[in-house]
Amino acid sequence: EKSGYPHFMLKEIFEQPRALDSTLHSLLSRNDMDFDFERVTIVACGTSYHAGLVGKYLIEELLQIPVDVYYASEYRYRPDVVEDSLAIFITQSGETADTIAAARKAKVSGNETLAITNVVGSSITSYVDRVLYTNAGPEIGVAATKTFTAQLLALEYFAIRAGESMGKLSVSQVRNFINSLRKIPLYVENTLNLNDIIEKEAKKIYKNKDMFFIGRSMNYPIALEGALKMKEISYIHAEGYPAGELKHGPLALIEEGIPVIALVPEDITYDKMLSNIKEVSARNAYVIGVSSNMDVGKYVDTLIKVPETELYLSPFVNVVVLQLLAYHAARLLGRDIDKPRNLAKSVTVE
Ligand code: M6R
Repeated sequence: EKSGYPHFMLKEIFEQPRALDSTLHSLLSRNDMDFDFERVTIVACGTSYHAGLVGKYLIEELLQIPVDVYYASEYRYRPDVVEDSLAIFITQSGETADTIAAARKAKVSGNETLAITNVVGSSITSYVDRVLYTNAGPEIGVAATKTFTAQLLALEYFAIRAGESMGKLSVSQVRNFINSLRKIPLYVENTLNLNDIIEKEAKKIYKNKDMFFIGRSMNYPIALEGALKMKEISYIHAEGYPAGELKHGPLALIEEGIPVIALVPEDITYDKMLSNIKEVSARNAYVIGVSSNMDVGKYVDTLIKVPETELYLSPFVNVVVLQLLAYHAARLLGRDIDKPRNLAKSVTVE
């Protein structure tokens, strides 16, 4: 049931505070979060792959351990390298054929395996050593929304607990991190209050044929995710880029009026992101900045001011803005939002 919402996607976007709350609850009740590994390999498809990329930045930062992230459909061509690695498979449905095939392969190569999935008893769970469930509730819209933020939360929690069990984080660091996770549902709730402002922005850009999403570090995968959401449900051609790569080619595509959505968290990427914004505004792009810092308003055409969060948590608020932007653009274009053309909710062929 859509509970009064015009689409499942919008309902699921708005369900995020509750979904995150219940995901955190179920994670906090786990008492089997002891880990010991020297490397991490993350494997997934689509939106779940983007969650994996955010996970890479997090785990490398908190544990100082190298993390590789693969598309499941590519992992299978990798040679069987036996290493002391934990392999994590992220799949909302737990039924994605490529991700399941990758989990079987990882097991054969001697990896310890962990799945992050939203569906209890789904196929992936029988191929891995351990499972972390995101308790986001069923997701009907083809576009993944609440399950993505729940995956991010599960990865944050995993990184903290792994850091604790491997002696990389102190007791007080763990306590502080966990306390900050408890604030995520509220940050997301406050971001949802920007819905009307985001809808207005969608009205300004939905007629464009192309658009760019840029970010750095943990927000680079969020730029990829914003572009995927836009493509998937509005059919607008959208590219996600690490902002520093623009001048290595794509800047040639920037022309007057092309929308560039720039994610500008108040972290080490802040100044560099402002430089990238200047590069595109000098070519008369239409720049939408997403930031908690009002100063960004001086450099962009429109600022969407998101709630201020702890470092590491900006992806949660930024992605919600991009989900809503894609939703409103698709609605203005009259698209079949919950069932976009050519796509299925879970891809069960390799
Ligand atoms: O169920 P999974 O997480 O394994 O699905 C992976 C992708 O098929 C999925 O995230 C897809 O990219 C979504 N439709 C994106 O919104």
